Amino acid sequence: MHVPRHVAIIMDGNGRWARDRGLPRAAGHRAGIKPVRLTVEECSRRGVEVLTLFAFSSENWLRPPQEVGVLMQLFLEALDREADELAAKGVSLRFIGARAVLGAELQARMAGVESRTAANTGLKLIVAIGYGGRWDIVEAAKRLARAAQAGTLDPDSIDEAGFAAGLALAGLPDPDLFIRTGGDQRISNFLLWNLAYAELWFTEAFWPAFDAAALEAAFGAFATRERRFGKTAAQLKAERC
Ligand code: IPE
Ligand code: IPE
Ligand code: MG
Repeated sequence: MHVPRHVAIIMDGNGRWARDRGLPRAAGHRAGIKPVRLTVEECSRRGVEVLTLFAFSSENWLRPPQEVGVLMQLFLEALDREADELAAKGVSLRFIGARAVLGAELQARMAGVESRTAANTGLKLIVAIGYGGRWDIVEAAKRLARAAQAGTLDPDSIDEAGFAAGLALAGLPDPDLFIRTGGDQRISNFLLWNLAYAELWFTEAFWPAFDAAALEAAFGAFATRERRFGKTAAQLKAERC
């Protein structure tokens, strides 16, 4: 089966999963850790190179402060608990997003686990916290503008590859498979640039209920897709021979 090199997931539906059980939203967020573990394991096992998980968007700061607090505390606890396991599995962990606004303690742990796992050669796990696709593009534009202003960059020399080199996922392949749980079919300001040619797969399942069978279904669907990248089916066939 053709395996995607890069899988990107919007882990949505924690709140509704909890509501259906008469539980507070925080319980849904807590229950969302188990499927993260499973997804990391399954992607490692299947030979996926990069897994990018959307954990907290730039717009999620607009949620009630109490819920934001719960999520930040959960990130801190999960990082403490899972870091050893990830390191032992050979996973390298990196975070993308505007991190200066995060708590000092969380920022320190994030930097710690990043440097500790940087040399690992297994699955590249990217966790998007305080991330927005538009933020990412604006940051890349700023870098280019600074270089142009400093006289080290000719604006006419800027091309797509040069622009992409300023994005948070610079140097990594674009996502091949995009998964969103929770039933909504939208991008919600995730990797706007990088998802240009991703295969999209949606499931009604809420994130805490996402399991190996759901992941298998996503991978199965991906394997059946014909990715033409603008070409005709006949061209692709000719290229394969
Ligand atoms: C995803 O679940 C987690 C975050 C966005 C942080 P939600 O909290 O969005 O759950 P729903 O969509 O309200 O059910
Ligand atoms: C997207 O989920 C962000 C994450 C899963 C981290 P949201 O629940 O924030 O998305 P919207 O608001 O329904 O589009
Ligand atoms: Mg949601």
